[in-house]
Amino acid sequence: SLRTLASARGLLLGGAISGELFNADNPDEAATINREYNAVVAENAMKMRAIANSPDPDNYLFATADAMVASAQKNGQTVRGHTLIWHDSAPAWVYEIQEKTAMRAAMTQYITTVVKHFGNRINIWDVVNEAISDGPGNPLRNNNPFAVAGPDFIALAFRMAHAANPAARLCYNDYSVEGLNGKSNAMYALVKGLLADGVPIHGVGFQSHLDTNFSVRDSGMQANLQRFRDLGLDVQLTEVDVQMVGSGSEKEKLARQAQVYGELLSTCLAVKCSAFMMWGVSDLTSWRAGGKPLIFDGDYVKKPAYGALIKVL
Ligand code: XIL
Repeated sequence: SLRTLASARGLLLGGAISGELFNADNPDEAATINREYNAVVAENAMKMRAIANSPDPDNYLFATADAMVASAQKNGQTVRGHTLIWHDSAPAWVYEIQEKTAMRAAMTQYITTVVKHFGNRINIWDVVNEAISDGPGNPLRNNNPFAVAGPDFIALAFRMAHAANPAARLCYNDYSVEGLNGKSNAMYALVKGLLADGVPIHGVGFQSHLDTNFSVRDSGMQANLQRFRDLGLDVQLTEVDVQMVGSGSEKEKLARQAQVYGELLSTCLAVKCSAFMMWGVSDLTSWRAGGKPLIFDGDYVKKPAYGALIKVL
């Protein structure tokens, strides 16, 4: 299995699991996860909107996330925590906070409560997700409610997470940063600045939501990942999926998808990455099911991309 080979190399390899499905007890989904993955991440259950519909920490909802963590522990899987501070998952009450001190207090309370709740059951966290915009120059997003806390809101989040669990590896996570480009340059400058300020950041997550037009070589992905490694950071591919696009037969597209998956994993290993996580399990349950982006098809049958990963491992 993938997990046996990955574990032998000290690599976390796994994917996102959906609480809804998990609770509905989809036997194929659960069997595949436990046979193939040595690491899991909650697709949605640990996001702020899932946990904190109200600002009151006494009303935080941990049941789904706790069930996933219990299952992971039973099955010998490491859990990646995803994600503490993400504009796209902020509940309505966060948007009502307009004052800096109040926002700092809210972030501190949320991060501290959640990170302490999981304690040493979760020792890798995506602390801040997708803070960089896609616009010209790639400044930080201007639609981020947490920015009310001040220009150092990212540093604040890492410091609070570190105080709540000093043993955890803390990551910044984003998309469209896989190759050498304006956005990855902005992310490089961001994390370099955090390190210079003594902020406890230990890793960078490269989401890797890609399609079959992506060229690992032409994008400069290895050089890009390596420059983050050279800062002393963990490098993790955190949400890999490769949609099948373009012309050609189904067979050709599957072959091209397998090639991209294989190159992503070998590039990850070439820079001594610590995790290769896919965003789901099968093409049945993927958030982008239309693009058939995963390594198991809708019937949980292994696709050529599965074989490509095995070959690299
Ligand atoms: C997505 C989930 O897959 C969807 O089910 C949900 O509706 C929205 O979020 N980047 C991330 C992930 O960091 O959390 C997102 O997950 C996909 C993009």
